[in-house]
This record gives sequence, structure tokens and C-alpha cells, in this order.
Amino acid sequence: MPTPVTISENELREQFTYIDAIAGSIRDKRPRAYTHTFGCQQNEADTERIRGMLHQMGYEMTDNTEDADLVLFNTCAVREHAEDRAFGNVGALRQLKKRRPEVIIALCGCMVQQDKNVEKIKKSYPYVSLLFGTHALWRFPSLLYRVLSGEKRVFDIGGTDDIAEGLPVLRGQGAKAWLSIMYGCNNFCTYCIVPYVRGRERSRRPEEIEAELRELVAAGYKEITLLGQNVNSYGKDLALDLDFSDLLRRLNAVPGDFWLRFMTSHPKDASPRLFDAMAECDKVAKQLHLPFQSGSDTILHRMNRGYTAGEYRALIADARAKMPAITLSSDIIVGFPGETEADFEQTLALVEQTEFDLLFTFLYSPRSGTPAASYEDDATPAEKQARFERLLRAQDAIVERKQAAYQGKRLRLLVDGMAKGPDYPFTARTEGNLLVCVRGEGLQIGDFIEAEIEKTTLRCLFARKL
Ligand code: SAH
Ligand code: SF4
Ligand code: F3S
Repeated sequence: MPTPVTISENELREQFTYIDAIAGSIRDKRPRAYTHTFGCQQNEADTERIRGMLHQMGYEMTDNTEDADLVLFNTCAVREHAEDRAFGNVGALRQLKKRRPEVIIALCGCMVQQDKNVEKIKKSYPYVSLLFGTHALWRFPSLLYRVLSGEKRVFDIGGTDDIAEGLPVLRGQGAKAWLSIMYGCNNFCTYCIVPYVRGRERSRRPEEIEAELRELVAAGYKEITLLGQNVNSYGKDLALDLDFSDLLRRLNAVPGDFWLRFMTSHPKDASPRLFDAMAECDKVAKQLHLPFQSGSDTILHRMNRGYTAGEYRALIADARAKMPAITLSSDIIVGFPGETEADFEQTLALVEQTEFDLLFTFLYSPRSGTPAASYEDDATPAEKQARFERLLRAQDAIVERKQAAYQGKRLRLLVDGMAKGPDYPFTARTEGNLLVCVRGEGLQIGDFIEAEIEKTTLRCLFARKL
């Protein structure tokens, strides 16, 4: 496989000249930008880079579309619901644009990497003046420059599978940061749109990742999540003798007090080698998100997942043997075309036997252009809904038991935000990424604390700082 193409310094330098040109022309206006992200962490990380570029151009960020000069939505295409929400939100901007025609409305991300959506926006949303796909993100400065120079509509969904290093990033404040280690996906699960809108897998060079981690630690971030659609295949495209477990070991050696998390792992590439590295590395949180999608081998095969339910169980057993306290989460699709009641029972059995700490459960959503969209699907929506609800009920019962077992336990927590209630005013996370509401003297976001669990509910643990 060829080594990934990194955007050349010259091409990037050109973008920085646009950033400077925009900064020069808008300096006195102090314009404001509003951004909203749909979709996964990868998209959130992309938005942080767009905000970084905007910040460097001189834009201030705002939480309100009403006082924004630029409104940008970073969109997701993974399920129909995600697309509907994005279109709904863009539709709602029609009035804003009428009242304030000078507002620039921009769309980017996975949904607009698809021709059918671009056509729809061209025709039905004439007030969208800037649109760019996932491969054109680094060209944002030159595209925005064209809009600011008076071009009516600038659309760019071109580009190749490349990596742009050195773009500015404006991260949220707080304890947590995203760190992309690779982009794209090669797996082509038959239901999934991601490989079509994000291109092929490409890994960032380890020295770039390590340098960014060091910056994040120096800036005070305490929980850094390594991102990729399938982090277990990290490095396969680099001509280096290095895989994801080697990368974990290298990053674990960076000095500082922080937790490293990663997502997403694919069962076909997760290995005993990975669990050995996790167990050995003290900064790698003992938490694993390992989507299995279905407990039926027939369905797994038709999803093109590349493993069986038995192989998945063996992985979980190995991870638990090496890290007894590990917390586990997973993604499941209910109602994949052809899923029978018996197939679903196997999913339910896997859930009941494994006892995950957290599940993300989705009803199958056909994505045009993917193979599964043309598979025969004979289960009715009502049948699928009934399966979905059974699964949720089963999982809730498991979580309730698991949560209750934390009563009275002492744990290390990372304080990461403000809670809603007055009694436990802060939120925190366990090493296993469970949500905790905490109380106590001198709590501050970004602190690691020792705490004792005082009570538990289905969705939250409640703790007192010791
Ligand atoms: N790369 C990750 C997940 C990316 S999408 C992985 O392979 O695990 C996140 C989740 O969305 C998937 O795990 C899957 O459960 C769900 N998903 C993807 N496409 C879907 C579709 N067409 N319908 C319903 N759920 C889907
Ligand atoms: Fe989609 Fe499968 Fe790739 Fe995950 S591994 S992004 S589910 S194609
Ligand atoms: Fe959605 Fe794109 Fe992520 S389709 S889930 S935002 S990779």
C-alpha cells in the first residue's frame, strides 16, 4: 500500500496566505462565527480545526446563530436521522438569511461528500453559499476567501486521500481533547457510508502524533482520546515497523499525569497484543469500545465484519483476563436486512452474557450506495422496534446491577464539567469512563481526585471527594 500523501508545505503555505488576507480584510469588523457539529468525534475534531482556522483569521466564536456572520454545520451521514437533522437545521436558517442577507451559511463534512446531497443543496437551499467535503477541509481558507470576495456559491467536494499537518486547532476548554491518529476506513461494512465519505485509511506519522500529545499535556489536558474509524489498523499504510500497540507504548512514555483513551477498535483487528499493551501501559485507561454489531454469524458475515460471535467472545475473555476491572462498551445494529428473530436472540444472548457497561444501539438505516441498501429486508418496522426495545430493557437491567455494585467504592476520578443539580455540582469520569456527579471542597475541572461513591442510579454514580 502506498504511504499516505501529506499535503505539501507549499500547498498549506498558500492556505495560510489566505488566512492572513482574510485577517487583514476583516480586522475592523470583528466578525463572529457559529459552528455546530453533527456526528462522531472525528467530526468534532475536524470542527476544532475549522475553528482554529477561523480564529486565526480573526473570527470570534459565538454560541448564537442570531449574532453570527458565518454559520457552519459540520454534517454526518451515518444514519438517515443524522441527515434529516442537518437538513432541518439548514432549513431553519432560511429566515435568518432573509433578515440578514450578509450572513454566510456554510456546510461541510460527511453528508455533503455525497453527490445526491450536494444536488439537493444546490437546488433547494440556494442560500448555502459555501460547501466543502471531508477531503477539502484544509482548503477552507481559500474557499472562504472566494465567498468573501463576492463569489455567490463556492462548492468543493474534490480532493484525494491525504493528510494535512500543521493546521491551527481551537479546542474546547476543559479536561478532554481529541487526537486524530488516522483518517478514513477500508472495511466497507455493507451497511456503512463512512468509507465512501471519508476515503481510505491513512495514518499520521507517529512523531506528529507524539508531538501533538506533548502539546496537549503541556496545555493541561488530562484525558486524550486517540481517534480513528479503526485504530487497530493504525500504521498498516506507513512503511514503518509499527502497529497500534507500539504507538500506545510510545505515547504512554510521554511524561505527565493523564489518561489515554482510543476509539474505535474493530474486533477483526483487535488482538491479544493490543490487550497486552493496554495492560502494561499505566496511562492507558482500562476501557474498551469494541462494536460487535450483531451476535449472529450469518448477519456478521452479511455485514462483512470479518469475525464471528465466538471470536468476539474470545477477545472479551482475553481482555478481561488481562485487565479484570476493564469497562466495555459496544455498538449494535438492530434490524439489519434479513435479521430473523433467531438472529436477534443471538445478539441478546451476547449482550446478556457479556454484561457491557454501556451500549450504543441503533436501528438499521439504509444508506444509498452501500450494498446492504439493496438487500431484501422482510422484518416490519414494528418487529424491529420491538427487538430494539427488548434489547434496551435487557441492557438497562444489567447496567442497574453493575452501577449498584459501585456503592461505597473508592475510585480515582477526573473532574470534567459542571453538573445540573446543586447537590453534586461537578461531573467526573472514572478510568472506565463511567459518568459520576461529585461534591466536595475545592473541586476544579481538570483535577484528578479520590472519591467515594455515595449512591448510584442507572445513568450516573454519585460521589464525595475524599
Ligand atoms: N468505525 C466505527 C463506527 C463508525 S459508525 C466502527 O466500525 O466501529 C458508528 C456506529 O454507527 C457503528 O458502529 C454502527 O453500529 C452504526 N451504524 C453505521 N452505519 C449504520 C447504519 N447504516 N444504520 C444503523 N447504524 C449504523
Ligand atoms: Fe463503517 Fe465498518 Fe468502517 Fe466502522 S469499520 S467506519 S462500521 S465501514
Ligand atoms: Fe458521521 Fe462521518 Fe462520523 S458519517 S459518524 S461524522 S465519520
